[in-house]
Amino acid sequence: MKLLLDAEYLLSKELTGDGVQKIKKYISDETKDILYKGLPKDKLSEAPKILESNISRDAISIKIESGTYVRAHSVAIRLKNSISSLLGKEFKVGIKKVTGKTYTLSLELDKIPKDPIKIPFVENISIEGNNAILVLTNLDEEFLTKNYVDRIINLFYEKVEAQFWGGKGEHWELISKSENKEPITTKDPTSELLALGWLKQGPSQGQWFYHAPIAALLRTMERIAVEEVLKPLGFIEVIAPKMVPFEIWEKTGHLSGSEPEIYYISPPISRDISVWEEVIDLYKITKKAYVEKIRERMRDPIGGMTYAQCPPMYWAFDGKTIDDSEFPVLIYDKSGPSYRWEAGGRQGIERVNEFWRIEPVFIGYPEQLIELKEKMMERYAYVFNKIFEIEWRTAWVTPFYMAQAGQTGIEKETERIKGTVDYESWIPSRGSREESEWLEFQNLSIVGDKYTKAFSIKSSKNKELWSGCSGIGLQRWTVSFLAQKGLDSDNWPKEFKKYLGEFPRQIKFV
Ligand code: SER
Ligand code: ZN
Repeated sequence: MKLLLDAEYLLSKELTGDGVQKIKKYISDETKDILYKGLPKDKLSEAPKILESNISRDAISIKIESGTYVRAHSVAIRLKNSISSLLGKEFKVGIKKVTGKTYTLSLELDKIPKDPIKIPFVENISIEGNNAILVLTNLDEEFLTKNYVDRIINLFYEKVEAQFWGGKGEHWELISKSENKEPITTKDPTSELLALGWLKQGPSQGQWFYHAPIAALLRTMERIAVEEVLKPLGFIEVIAPKMVPFEIWEKTGHLSGSEPEIYYISPPISRDISVWEEVIDLYKITKKAYVEKIRERMRDPIGGMTYAQCPPMYWAFDGKTIDDSEFPVLIYDKSGPSYRWEAGGRQGIERVNEFWRIEPVFIGYPEQLIELKEKMMERYAYVFNKIFEIEWRTAWVTPFYMAQAGQTGIEKETERIKGTVDYESWIPSRGSREESEWLEFQNLSIVGDKYTKAFSIKSSKNKELWSGCSGIGLQRWTVSFLAQKGLDSDNWPKEFKKYLGEFPRQIKFV
């Protein structure tokens, strides 16, 4: 890697005789510390260099060349600080502004990208032999200070890699499988529910209206999860907001990949009725929503609808130090739906844009979470074996926090501690247990310190804190159950019926 930066320092006033001499001497004789600080001992040959410098009236231009270790933009900022203090004390001259006039990055390539690559802030990318040459211009101080360049370099290599992956999908590896269970039905639950009139599709895309019997089933699932899994383990209920501002997803990393699936939210530009008068009048006359006119009166999006429930739960602990006697902190939210734009991929009530989940979140010491995960898995197994009596399996998959941040693969670990376990059920209407695609109906993850760090959540004894969560999909629990047990409640397991209580009747339509 070779980085070449033309940095320009704009001074608060013109620099004269002595000042010019001082800076010239400083640049040629006294910058060694700045250039070598942080450089690994065995990489001294790759130390950054000042190739040229020029002082003209109220500007100093310095051309800096570097390799990988101490990068040219860091040197530019170090120089700004040292030159500032040099000139300030003696000559009362300050640095008003530092600009990266041109920054040329030569990056070695193992593989030559097949297609052109585009990266924000990068004006031009060309390939010369085994190098990619990225050219950036007019970079401000924030850009130079805040690691933007390093992230651009990583992003470039990521994009090159991505061109060679082909269809490398998400990771999947079987962990365990329940006993085989002969299903009572092989019919598709959604079609059956529609035929009974218990369900109605819409009104919007990927949404359902659940009439009383199916609503009762979803609530039964909720009670089972709370009574059989969460309460026995000590989880307590919280109510998390369902509108999520971008600031939260900036911290969780959802904004590096979940964008195409987010439902964005824009508040009105004004609450003033006069601003809306035209839209209101248009409706009164035409009885139509004038979407164009509404759009003109909307603010920029402030965020989106809940994508997963855990991000706002971490936010609730943002910057907090938790008393050590509290660990593990065990909370859950079941207060509202989550939304994902599943364009094209919708299917029955199991793959929808608006879905209900219970999400437990846990924060504690690593060993506490490892133990908790085991206990949760035991409780879940009890529910699926003894209450639902269904056939299910678990798999080690790409962790949700990687998938939702646009990554594939798994954590680089052999112990299989940090990551996501998916729970899947056999849906007989899709085909045989061996060949059909099973339904992912819930997951359980240990996240490690990713979110506790991102939200600066601390233990009062300053111990390492991890977190984790589990997404219990109520529609998917329901489909997993109905797909194997059918819709006739006479055939349902005794333990399930205990939770069901009285089954509401459906309104008759003619
Ligand atoms: N946050 C996890 C997920 O989105 C569990 O809900 O899958
Ligand atoms: Zn989560």
